[in-house]
Amino acid sequence: MFKMAKINLKTHISGIEIKHPVMIGSGVLNDQPNLIERAIIEGEPSAVVTKTITWEPREGYQPPIIIELSQGGYLNAVGLANPGRDAIPSLVEVGHRYGVPVIVSIAGSSLKEFIDLAILAEEYRSIAIELNLSCPHVKGLGAELGRDPKMVYTITKDTSSVVKIPILAKLGPWDNVVEISSKALEGGAKALVLINTIKGMAIDIYVMKPILSNVIGGLSGPPLHPIAIRIVYEVYRELKPEIIGVGGVVNYETAIEFLLAGAKAVQVVSAIIKNGFRVVRDIVSGIESYLKFMNLKSIDEIIGAAHKF
Ligand SMILES: Cc1cc2nc3c(=O)[nH]c(=O)nc-3n(C[C@H](O)[C@H](O)[C@H](O)COP(=O)(O)O)c2cc1C
Repeated sequence: MFKMAKINLKTHISGIEIKHPVMIGSGVLNDQPNLIERAIIEGEPSAVVTKTITWEPREGYQPPIIIELSQGGYLNAVGLANPGRDAIPSLVEVGHRYGVPVIVSIAGSSLKEFIDLAILAEEYRSIAIELNLSCPHVKGLGAELGRDPKMVYTITKDTSSVVKIPILAKLGPWDNVVEISSKALEGGAKALVLINTIKGMAIDIYVMKPILSNVIGGLSGPPLHPIAIRIVYEVYRELKPEIIGVGGVVNYETAIEFLLAGAKAVQVVSAIIKNGFRVVRDIVSGIESYLKFMNLKSIDEIIGAAHKF
């Protein structure tokens, strides 16, 4: 009897095999290992990225720290609240228990802190490290370093040279993102995570004041998607690196757009905040049905396909 060929959803990021291209991005999972466990059971992601961890714990900003926008998406200014370096082992351990790669996201307020955190993350058996070079709303961390090509080169070079596990560089939607990307790759980043949130603001029209306690926050979700697709497309066209696309993935269509633009995988954050971890499963099964519908057998056949016209 004629047997349908199985669809191959496997892909590789920096040599790490992942069972399908849909990961959970940084920001959904905080300091609680049991939340990572729930995410793995309910969402069946191919990998999870922790909340960005700093050397010392951070309390973050006072509420309101996140708002849902009437036009779709969120604005958040959490202020990188996180439990600090001591939380890394218990977060990573859950991934090892379930055989799902846990990637530790780190941010330092100095080069030394980036290096020390990278060494610790490897010691604590993280599969890879995501350098958060792009948080838009915390002074002295992230975006302030991540906009400067020289700084990006130095941070990626110095962290890559002290660990054996892959370094992924998460960048923001800067105008010079192609230049910054090339510096991150030159420095030794094995893949780029594109993109973090973009600065935004909302005002309460009755109170006549900004809504977020920090006034300015990071815009995520559907409004970010076309910007993220453009950046992935441009960076892939110029440099052909390994890319993980992030920004407004809410269903299989928005995920597939990233793959066609050149990403090998995607990360989901806002759609999980809105609809729970199961959205990850739905996106994966949607990708599988799409490939069948298009008479394709593997995810590799669509990565970067939008460039071939
Ligand atoms: C509440 C919230 C917290 C976030 N925290 C982090 C973080 O700690 N580190 C980081 O690199 N990105 C963080 N992000 C950004 C996301 O990882 C992602 O880049 C962005 O939200 C776009 O993806 P999305 O549209 O799927 O949400 C956060 C996003 C949200 C909404």
